[in-house]
Amino acid sequence: MEKIIITGNGPLSGEVRVAGAKNAALPIIAAGLLSAEPLTISNVPAVRDISTALELMTMLGAKVERSGTDLTITSANISSLHVPYEMVKTMRGSILMLGPLLARFGEADVSLPGGCAIGTRPVNEHITGLEAMGAEIDIEGGYIKAKAKRLRGAHYTFDVPSVTATENLLMAATLAQGTTILENCALEPEIGDLALLLTQMGARISGAGTSTIRIEGVDALGAATHQVPPDRIETGTFLVAAAVTRGDITVTGTNPDFLQHVLGKLEQAGARLETGPDWIKLNMANRQPRAVNITTAPYPAFPTDMQAQFMALNALAQGSATVVENIFENRFMHVAELQRMGADIELQGHTAIVRGLERLQGAPVMATDLRASACLIIAALAANGQTTIDRVYHLDRGYANIDTKLAALGAVISRI
Ligand code: EPU
Repeated sequence: MEKIIITGNGPLSGEVRVAGAKNAALPIIAAGLLSAEPLTISNVPAVRDISTALELMTMLGAKVERSGTDLTITSANISSLHVPYEMVKTMRGSILMLGPLLARFGEADVSLPGGCAIGTRPVNEHITGLEAMGAEIDIEGGYIKAKAKRLRGAHYTFDVPSVTATENLLMAATLAQGTTILENCALEPEIGDLALLLTQMGARISGAGTSTIRIEGVDALGAATHQVPPDRIETGTFLVAAAVTRGDITVTGTNPDFLQHVLGKLEQAGARLETGPDWIKLNMANRQPRAVNITTAPYPAFPTDMQAQFMALNALAQGSATVVENIFENRFMHVAELQRMGADIELQGHTAIVRGLERLQGAPVMATDLRASACLIIAALAANGQTTIDRVYHLDRGYANIDTKLAALGAVISRI
């Protein structure tokens, strides 16, 4: 199993380009199932979750051609409607195949994901939403067995604004008979981006990116060409890494508009920020960051996917802060690992009380999920001595070449 070894050293500096967003690319790939015509996608990140999704598309019978960050998917000859447990357990985003398969082929057999390292993560909203659209759904042997001759338009209100459930129902509704109105939708930018793609394919959608989305179903969708938007979480991760190491970096190929809350917190922490249309420059002028209170909530508030990285920042900041996790009930696994590095963090339910320190100490630690891995990398960059991070396959699920990118910014990092 691969490990990453980091020796804490001076500030990160230089320029780094972020990849396309994993969480935008996953629903885009699933949308490929909605049409028999090709989908041409650029800026596809080279991360493991994307390889898993493409492997799954191939298993279903789609033709997948990938060259670097360019991808073409043609779902003209789909031969299976079965999404097996082996795929869903390695990548929960596989649930995004449910809506498109059911809408286009009238049937789908998709494994339930089960629990995950950050919480129970139920998929009830995906199921009840599709049932509202006329699907007959049975849970048998751990699988969601869904049938519908043709889905029909419905008025559905989400109990919680779920990102992938909104995406699943949005995709399904494009091929339903009649009009669907989805209320209390998630507002994450990946949903507006998916709607752009679907519209180009011929879908009739209004209101995407707001809490009410209206979709008029059509009989078939066509070809489209689309560019995956920049990864806002990768962007934020590099910015926090620079802040914690008291560095000075410019992140390019990004979009500052999607990161307003995170940028506000970095300014509160003492970072000087400048932004352009597709870049963000952060300068700490060699100062230790100040601790900042964080409360995660659905977009446009502070993203849960940046909570772990700010936990590392607070652990190495001046002063104390609280970090409140409101989205996932178990997303504090990185705390025990930070404590092994000497961090002063007390957990009280879904709140962490962090008392910042000047330095942490390098130690052997273990990554428990994707963003927890990023947190440990950040902490290691600013620790005294060497940190060995085990189970870095979590990191490779969502960050493309993060070790080479950090090395180019001056980090002492290697992989064994
Ligand atoms: N929820 C339900 N029922 C459902 C669906 C969700 O109760 O049917 C609850 C969840 O338990 C959670 C809340 O709703 O408390 C929000 O979860 P959501 O469904 O929005 O999460 P997701 O769609 O499974 C996506 C990202 C996650 C990211 C969350 C929150 C993808 C593929 N995944 O997950 O990304 O943390 O939204 O923003 O888009 C990551 O990249 O590290 C990651 C975990």
